Amino acid sequence: MKILVTGGAGYIGSHTCVELLNKNYDVVVIDNLSNSSEESLKRVKNITSKSLSFYKADLLDKKEITAVFSDHKIDAVIHFAGLKAVGESVMIPLKYFHNNITGTLNLLEVMNDFNTKNIVFSSSATVYGNPASLPIKEGFPLSATNPYGRTKLMIEEILQDLYRSDKNWNIALLRYFNPVGAHESGKIGEDPFGIPNNLVPYISQVAVGALSQVSIFGNDYDTPDGTGVRDFIHVVDLALGHIKTLPKLFTNPGVMIYNLGTGLGYSVLEMIKGFEAASNKKIPYKITRRRPGDIAACWADPAKAKAELDWEANKTLIDMCKDTWNWQKKNPTGYQKTQ
Ligand code: NAD
Ligand code: WQD
Repeated sequence: MKILVTGGAGYIGSHTCVELLNKNYDVVVIDNLSNSSEESLKRVKNITSKSLSFYKADLLDKKEITAVFSDHKIDAVIHFAGLKAVGESVMIPLKYFHNNITGTLNLLEVMNDFNTKNIVFSSSATVYGNPASLPIKEGFPLSATNPYGRTKLMIEEILQDLYRSDKNWNIALLRYFNPVGAHESGKIGEDPFGIPNNLVPYISQVAVGALSQVSIFGNDYDTPDGTGVRDFIHVVDLALGHIKTLPKLFTNPGVMIYNLGTGLGYSVLEMIKGFEAASNKKIPYKITRRRPGDIAACWADPAKAKAELDWEANKTLIDMCKDTWNWQKKNPTGYQKTQ
């Protein structure tokens, strides 16, 4: 079985490539490296002692996608490629709509041309907006609060329309909660360009001394300690969710939708404490104003994925913090300059 992984050099993509190779899938990666480095794929090969085919190609260029499908008979696509910074999407929405939507349309058109109609799409818990109750089930109402989230919602709808028009398509919409952590080898992990937007990469850069303190965006939420609560999920558990999805995709299920989360909520303060325990470092922090657009709490009901995919997250908060720290201390400046 040959799987095309778009965005495979990125954070979640590289971890998924490892698990695909471990399960003996053939792997082809397309990535334009706009938010990643080819070094991640070298390390994927090193971890697995297996090879993969890499194309530095842009989903905005249909000819480049066609060339990949001409070279390889692809059985299914796992589609990670996209821009993902919420704040940036508010500033430059057209870039997000163009990259994420047009890139996906190009990919789907080429898949259609080559009669490859199996796709797993990286959706996000952001499609639930501010949920009325917790935990979040797949049938909850959907809404978007920023252009990034809107691209996810629009792509989900495009894929559902595609299936309505042609029942030969098989589509998995995987709604990820908050991916964190790194491969236990410490060879691959999250390597954000510039100052991180997300909590755990920020904490980890404070721990390694690259940043001075964490700003906690509000401690007056209606949560047990007043700070935001999220369903943090280890990236390797998340990658394994894709591995469990593929066999089901090949049974012609039509459209499937799953939450990939742990079902547990941890607060910002609990994450800082967990990271202090894992790294044996003090993490200085200060309380600042709420970040516009943030919600108080969000966690998944992952029961559907457990029942239908036989998948559940197994790694703990301490695993997430330990593995992030292992990656960060071995690679204090990410993939660019390592020890
Ligand atoms: P990432 O930025 O590390 O990976 C995305 C990859 O896609 C990058 O390597 C980037 O270079 C590539 N890419 C972007 N546009 C491209 C294009 N036009 N052509 C080819 N390659 C392109 O992000 P990630 O955290 O690994 O996220 C993967 C997917 O999961 C994204 O679609 C993201 O929206 C989604 N997601 C991420 C999170 C999260 O918190 N990390 C949560 C929910 C959903
Ligand atoms: C988590 C908590 C912050 C940084 C984002 C996207 C979402 C999805 C996952 C892609 C919140 C607090 C954060 C900091 C802080 N991505 N925080 N100080 O916002 O839950 O989700 O990533 O689909 O769409 O919105 O993740 O890690 O940014 O924040 O206090 O420096 O940490 O307020 O409560 P978020 P996050």
